[in-house]
Amino acid sequence: MANSAKILAFAGSARQDSFHKKLVKIAAQGAENAGATVTYLDFRDLPMPLYDQDLEAEQGLPDNVLQFKSLLKSHQGLLLACPEYNSSITPLLKNAIDWASRPEPGEPPLSLTCFKGKTAVLMSTSPGGLGGLRGLNHVRSILSSIGVLVLPDQTSIPNAYQAYDDGGNLRDEEQQKSVLALGHKLAQVVAKLEG
Ligand SMILES: Cc1cc2nc3c(=O)[nH]c(=O)nc-3n(C[C@H](O)[C@H](O)[C@H](O)COP(=O)(O)O)c2cc1C
Repeated sequence: MANSAKILAFAGSARQDSFHKKLVKIAAQGAENAGATVTYLDFRDLPMPLYDQDLEAEQGLPDNVLQFKSLLKSHQGLLLACPEYNSSITPLLKNAIDWASRPEPGEPPLSLTCFKGKTAVLMSTSPGGLGGLRGLNHVRSILSSIGVLVLPDQTSIPNAYQAYDDGGNLRDEEQQKSVLALGHKLAQVVAKLEG
């Protein structure tokens, strides 16, 4: 199926055995099934220092931040699997968003070039019963306020230690389908918006 959507997929966790890396890869498969081109990003490969305005003033944006910004700019859709830490966003994800919101040389201040006009779908999973649902509200609010259209569709998978099989897929067929459908939906919406 032809689809022009370019989608960047990433988890807000660098943990090697992250449940969110598994989750976002399922959604990425759904987007690919719809014909989209998906790039998977692992933040373990792109470490960024804790945001510090003095560091930025002295050294500019670190190379890995520029690389993240470039990835964001070259994709129209974002698939984000967001762990919930104390009912909110992880520091890793917030830090990456904060860095990417800063202008690079030649960009006007507050232009938010990485975020404006992007379309995102959120998902979460957790060992707990709510599946990280509460954290998604915060991520939705942050992204919306910097110009990202966050689709209402989202999924939170509870009981993470039992939910995934050895291949990283969800044991429950309905859950697996719902996450695949998230990627499919994003691919379709992005293709329509870009078309
Ligand atoms: C600092 C911290 C705070 C956490 N807070 C919550 C929480 O509020 N709700 C929840 O469901 N799980 C919470 N957890 C558990 C995470 O959901 C769990 O560690 C999950 O595996 C993180 O995602 P990952 O596997 O992709 O790294 C927390 C974990 C940490 C380390």
